[in-house]
Amino acid sequence: MVQVFRTIAGLQTYLRQAGWGKTVGLVPTMGALHAGHGSLLKRAVAEMDLVVLSIFINPLQFGPGEDWEQYPRDFDGDRQWAESLGVAVIFAPTVTDLELNSNVDQTTVLPPPAMTEVLCGAHRPGHFQGVATIVTKLFTIVCPDVAYFGAKDAQQLAIVRRLVQDLNLTVTIRSCATVREASGLAMSSRNQYLSDQEKQQAAVLYRSLQAAQEQYHQGDRQVSSLLTIAQDILATEPAVKLQYLELVQRDTLQPVVEKIPDQIPALMAIAAYVGSTRLIDNLVLNHR
Ligand code: PAJ
Repeated sequence: MVQVFRTIAGLQTYLRQAGWGKTVGLVPTMGALHAGHGSLLKRAVAEMDLVVLSIFINPLQFGPGEDWEQYPRDFDGDRQWAESLGVAVIFAPTVTDLELNSNVDQTTVLPPPAMTEVLCGAHRPGHFQGVATIVTKLFTIVCPDVAYFGAKDAQQLAIVRRLVQDLNLTVTIRSCATVREASGLAMSSRNQYLSDQEKQQAAVLYRSLQAAQEQYHQGDRQVSSLLTIAQDILATEPAVKLQYLELVQRDTLQPVVEKIPDQIPALMAIAAYVGSTRLIDNLVLNHR
């Protein structure tokens, strides 16, 4: 039976006993689980003695006018699936228990601006500060040996790796490949907002990334021409409104200029709207 804890005290009392001498894995999520989350959970269960799934729709990472209120919630479905995968613990705290109070000045974790003012961060001010703050709190509360994050959220992953390094946290970060629908559309809780037709249209994001990767493997190293290839494919779906398309270094998120270097992983990243739904995707072009 998966154990569900709503309070920090309850979780920590349990972990002190059941987690003693065991390796603990943490999979932080906002719930409405899909196969992308499932791949993180399966890997964690395979590698760790005890797995904690956290489910918390973190208000700090949603801007005014974003979808915090409508964000999909399915606790019963999440609990059943987590149990079938062998997850030991669900930690689903309340805003109050986490001491998150937007009306009060609080300590927050501020990642390097060079990593938060680019890509999604340029369009979602404060978002990665909210992510960094909640992730640091979860690491402190759960004390995991390993925490699992998806490559789908490449900017989040790079920032979390950097915060672990900069704050000398002892947790090991492992990344898991992006899980996709058969069409290539990256799985996302927000795909629930899309109609079938919009899902088909959204699959152009991955096709454009694949086309750029293909061109790279044919020997093209020019940033401008690789971006053009992707842009041309994106333009075949006028319903998909591009917010950004960029080539950055995967780990520092700094722009790759002119030519893709062989040694540094180069990430092509996209954000686009399909209707009112904002979607992101990415692909490392030069490392399979
Ligand atoms: P959420 O969007 O629920 O995602 C939880 C984890 O699942 C993240 O590490 C994300 O990268 C991963 N994930 C999502 N879709 C995926 C896919 N298609 N393939 C592989 N992994 C995927 O990301 C968050 O929540 C929050 O920002 C959080 C880290 C929980 C902090 O609030």
